[in-house]
Amino acid sequence: MKKKILNIINKKNKVKVVCLTAYSKNMSKLLDKYCDIILIGDSLGNVIYGMKNTHSVTMEMMIQHAKSVMLGIKNSLCIVDMPKNSYENNKQTLINAKKILKKTKCHGVKIESNYKNSLLIKHLVKSGISVMGHIGFTPQYKKKFKIEGNTKESENKLIKEAIAIEKAGAFAIVLECITATTSKKITKQIKIPTIGIGSSLNCDGQILVTEDMLGLSGFYPKFVKKYGNLEKLIEKYVQEYKKDVITNRFPKVSNSY
Ligand code: KIV
Repeated sequence: MKKKILNIINKKNKVKVVCLTAYSKNMSKLLDKYCDIILIGDSLGNVIYGMKNTHSVTMEMMIQHAKSVMLGIKNSLCIVDMPKNSYENNKQTLINAKKILKKTKCHGVKIESNYKNSLLIKHLVKSGISVMGHIGFTPQYKKKFKIEGNTKESENKLIKEAIAIEKAGAFAIVLECITATTSKKITKQIKIPTIGIGSSLNCDGQILVTEDMLGLSGFYPKFVKKYGNLEKLIEKYVQEYKKDVITNRFPKVSNSY
């Protein structure tokens, strides 16, 4: 596992790091061949559970989905989001991170930052836990979508935060919805890879929510490239199924015992 993390760190300035999210075995099995990192994101609150934000996602939800994801994994590094309220002090953070890793066999955790979480990261890393940071627009702490790094003050704060997270021992940092200029400065100033979402080409790698890029979530902000429209495709198949059932074209003898 340490080797996988080193491989990812060593990609900086050479090859881009490819990351996507997964919440279940069927999806992780498909992504595993192509991704360096698969994130069991707390975005599952929105995508799977229909919540309006990630604030009510629980440890149990994260653990169940991470267990399922791991069933499809042979190669990728699997990182689990720590849900909101599960990392409020050193003791609680360590207990919960250990619980996630023990129950799921995933390789590390991700913690969203609110400018003061680097000490929590340091505590986990000292205990041998691999941690990914997450700065910029951090949905667990924000109610409304906002671009980050677009003022000098915000840029300086983000750069300081990224440096603190690197010093704390994180192996990578997600930059969410940070301007291209600030992303470039952050990426230049730290030695660990930056993984962008809505943060331009200037990052060392990219991540998207898989359901968004497949056209399956109904959520397509500007930073999402929609590679397909699975919503449309599924609708087409369901219409065909309905027609078959109504007209007795399904099941056939070959589908029956
Ligand atoms: O929860 C999630 O899926 C994430 C990614 C968007 C980075 O944190």
